[in-house]
Amino acid sequence: MIICTIKSIIHKLTKYRKELIFGNMVAVVATLLVVIIPLFIPIIVDELLLGKDHHFIRWVSEHLWKSDTKGYVIGILVFILLLRLLSTLLSILQTKIFVSISKNITYQMRVSLLEHLKKVSLKEYETMRVGAVTSKLVTDVETIDGFVSTTISKLIVSTLILIFSSVVLLWIHWQLALFILLTNPIVVLFTVKLSRNIGKLKREENKAVELFQSSLSETLELFHQIKAANKETYFFKESEKKAKELKEHSVNYGYKSDAAMKLSYLIFLSGYEVFRAVSILAVAYSDLSVGLMLAIFSYLWVMVTPTQDVINFQYVLATAKAACKRINTIFEMEQEPLPPVQKDPFKGHSAVSIEVCHLCFRYAKGSNNEREKEDTREYILENINMHINAGSKVAIVGASGSGKTTLSNILVGFYPFEQGEIFYNGVSNKEVALSTIRENIYLILQHPKLFNDTMRFNLTLGNAYSDEAIENAIRIAQLGDVIGRLENGLDTLVGKDGIKLSGGQRQRVAIARMVLSNPKAVIFDESTSALDVHTEAKLFEALHDFLAKRTVITIAHRLSTIKSAEYIYVLEEGKVVDNGTPAQLLEKDESYFSAML
Ligand SMILES: Nc1ncnc2c1ncn2[C@@H]1O[C@H](COP(=O)(O)OP(=O)(O)OP(=O)(O)O)[C@@H](O)[C@H]1O
Ligand SMILES: [Mg+2]
Repeated sequence: MIICTIKSIIHKLTKYRKELIFGNMVAVVATLLVVIIPLFIPIIVDELLLGKDHHFIRWVSEHLWKSDTKGYVIGILVFILLLRLLSTLLSILQTKIFVSISKNITYQMRVSLLEHLKKVSLKEYETMRVGAVTSKLVTDVETIDGFVSTTISKLIVSTLILIFSSVVLLWIHWQLALFILLTNPIVVLFTVKLSRNIGKLKREENKAVELFQSSLSETLELFHQIKAANKETYFFKESEKKAKELKEHSVNYGYKSDAAMKLSYLIFLSGYEVFRAVSILAVAYSDLSVGLMLAIFSYLWVMVTPTQDVINFQYVLATAKAACKRINTIFEMEQEPLPPVQKDPFKGHSAVSIEVCHLCFRYAKGSNNEREKEDTREYILENINMHINAGSKVAIVGASGSGKTTLSNILVGFYPFEQGEIFYNGVSNKEVALSTIRENIYLILQHPKLFNDTMRFNLTLGNAYSDEAIENAIRIAQLGDVIGRLENGLDTLVGKDGIKLSGGQRQRVAIARMVLSNPKAVIFDESTSALDVHTEAKLFEALHDFLAKRTVITIAHRLSTIKSAEYIYVLEEGKVVDNGTPAQLLEKDESYFSAML
């Protein structure tokens, strides 16, 4: 299983070794170009202004260029400006290299999260909060991005600047340098303590973002329902409450993390003031020249940003660890199981025979904690046995809640089950991937879902079908008139969840989808319940040829639909309580179905 850890991120970074080395080399050159600038101060101050021994100027006038003080000052100025320009250009190049690496890493992370989500089991999906998942994919991955970009672009360069500056300081005045370098870690130690709480605060802030996002997306998702129940005030108040909590956490994180950074900066500045005072004392009581003292001041400043970067790295690391923890909750979502040996029992067959043997099923538990407790889940299906021949037409009837939809979902491979076996064309379900079953057996849902897209997309779901195939599906599904009346025909947007269509029209869209996907077996789960008897009859007449050779299972509450079946199974509280041909069942009792349907 993929897990997001700092180690795994660094491992990903190693794949960009070449770019990283090049980027860091560019960065080092860019930094060196500016870090050497303070070394010119002693030349200008000591050699040119105070007229001390002219080591450097003498060397320049002998080997390179002879000039007066004015000429040398202007010369050094131009040289320094050129160094700064070159350094800026190189640092732009460096940013470009590092940004593309960090964005690539976060892109890959999003892709692997999406790939994992794609295979998540239906059981996980049922308890998933959409807003929470999206917030992790956006906010937390963004936090990781911040970590990656600071680590790769700043950490190495900052460390190098610190090393370079330390060496120069030691060279200028080793006693003073030692004093500075030994006191610096105290500052760092102090800030480590401060950073501990920052990760926790960031986690709380991101959690608040997640809660706000889930609440808002659920409210918007069910807006229609909410309006129908006249509960806008209640639901939006809930979202506002979450917004308020988010504000409080953000304020908490915002000012406390800033305070922590400022406090460490304050300590650093205090140290700087002490170092400055000690340097002045060194000029007064030792052989340190004024120019070298000024150079030390400059190096203290040069060290400010890298020291801060190194200090901030702890905060960034703490927040990245927090983000990883949250991202991992997505990677921990259970995926659909894959059988060790995979067979395709559907290949080469035009229909499917389904044999259900001693099937027992209960739904999974909601949360992880519950798993540890005693298993008190009720069986929704108990010892189901069914024999459905290839190409036969079977009906399943039963009262509401008797387990018909659950059984259909299992037959098409939505849920794995613990006990019993189902044989598809004689092959056990233990050897068939759930996705293979779904590809061949089509379940038309009781309440089909539509995308907020065009009618065409809702029929094809993005697959490329010929116009002829689409027209055929429309004809069979009795959608011709419906589409004819839409302002842009097939290119009309159907609105959120197909709001512009009636319930019966949505059911017909689902049937057209099924026709287009050309399955080997079809399960109608009350999928024509919203149609009037007349349209339903026309629909089944049109479907007759299409379904002729396929295996068909119909779940319906209408006697007319069931009577045309070849065989009927009667479910009651998760058990098959009766089965037989319609004639056999009717023979038993004329009013057999009327009590049930
Ligand atoms: N995802 C689920 N998680 C937990 N329990 C579920 C789930 N779906 C259904 N159930 C339970 O399983 C039982 C059977 O439900 P099912 O939807 O299969 O009945 P049904 O026969 O299709 O009913 P209806 O005729 O109303 O559609 C019900 O008691 C229901 O509460
Ligand atoms: Mg149902």
